[in-house]
Amino acid sequence: MLALLLVAASMGVRIAGDGCGGHLTAERGVITTSNFPRPFDVPASCRWVIDSSSTPQPPVVIVVYLTQLFVSTGLTFTEYAYYEPDSPSFQLEPRVLHTVTEENAATTATVWTNQSFLVVDFAMDRLEGNHLRAADGLLDVFGINVTYNMHSAIGKLPDYSCTAAKCSLLGNCYASADYSNFWCDCFSGYSGKQCSMGPLCHPDSDICENNSTCR
Ligand SMILES: *[C@@H]1O[C@H](CO)[C@@H](O)[C@H](O)[C@H]1NC(C)=O
Ligand SMILES: *[C@@H]1O[C@H](CO)[C@@H](O)[C@H](O)[C@H]1NC(C)=O
Ligand SMILES: *[C@@H]1O[C@H](CO)[C@@H](O)[C@H](O)[C@H]1NC(C)=O
Ligand SMILES: *[C@@H]1O[C@H](CO)[C@@H](O)[C@H](O)[C@H]1NC(C)=O
Repeated sequence: MLALLLVAASMGVRIAGDGCGGHLTAERGVITTSNFPRPFDVPASCRWVIDSSSTPQPPVVIVVYLTQLFVSTGLTFTEYAYYEPDSPSFQLEPRVLHTVTEENAATTATVWTNQSFLVVDFAMDRLEGNHLRAADGLLDVFGINVTYNMHSAIGKLPDYSCTAAKCSLLGNCYASADYSNFWCDCFSGYSGKQCSMGPLCHPDSDICENNSTCR
């Protein structure tokens, strides 16, 4: 725990202040880097504290849905049994749940905890080389825009959520207004649940024979 505190201190993590980060106590919401999808100011350092400790009917599971995540580094998710947002030195049982890497950036769909606090840390010194790049529509996208939801532990989690990869890197993954449904909003010319059908694929054309899939 001490080591973790020192790391946090040396990264100069701030809470809110510069347009990112914050103490999130609402049942659901979005976590977005400044100016998304446009470039954010670097160096960036943000901490979001998702806090379910005051929800009316615990226990809850906090789930973060990594809908629009285009960074390949700099993002870490840590659960805590207790975390004092105003005094980060008072915290209990930190455990790192997920660290975004080039390998998992496009594919990990959710991060969840049954602890009361899920802390999302984001730190980046430069934009270049730290973002996923694909298709025309994603050549110019910076940062993250993901949703979180506090589910009652016995409640049912959505059985589908999307990611950049699930949308074939050819569309944006969005959550519905109540963050309980997810879908791919495909770039112009692409269609299908996962945007895998390309401009030449029309639902009633039969250019794909033998049960193959058009893309
Ligand atoms: C909380 O989640 C962990 C896995 O992260 C699991 O091992 C544990 O049993 C869960 N506890 C409860 C009370 O559900
Ligand atoms: C951010 O994500 C939310 C939920 O998926 C979506 O409604 C919103 O349009 C997104 N914002 C941008 C700028 O893409
Ligand atoms: C479909 O299968 C038939 C028989 O195996 C073959 O002759 C034909 O070329 C296949 N069509 C395509 C588009 O692969
Ligand atoms: C295509 O799939 C259907 C249903 O799975 C099957 O009945 C049919 O024989 C398949 N056709 C070819 C050409 O493989």
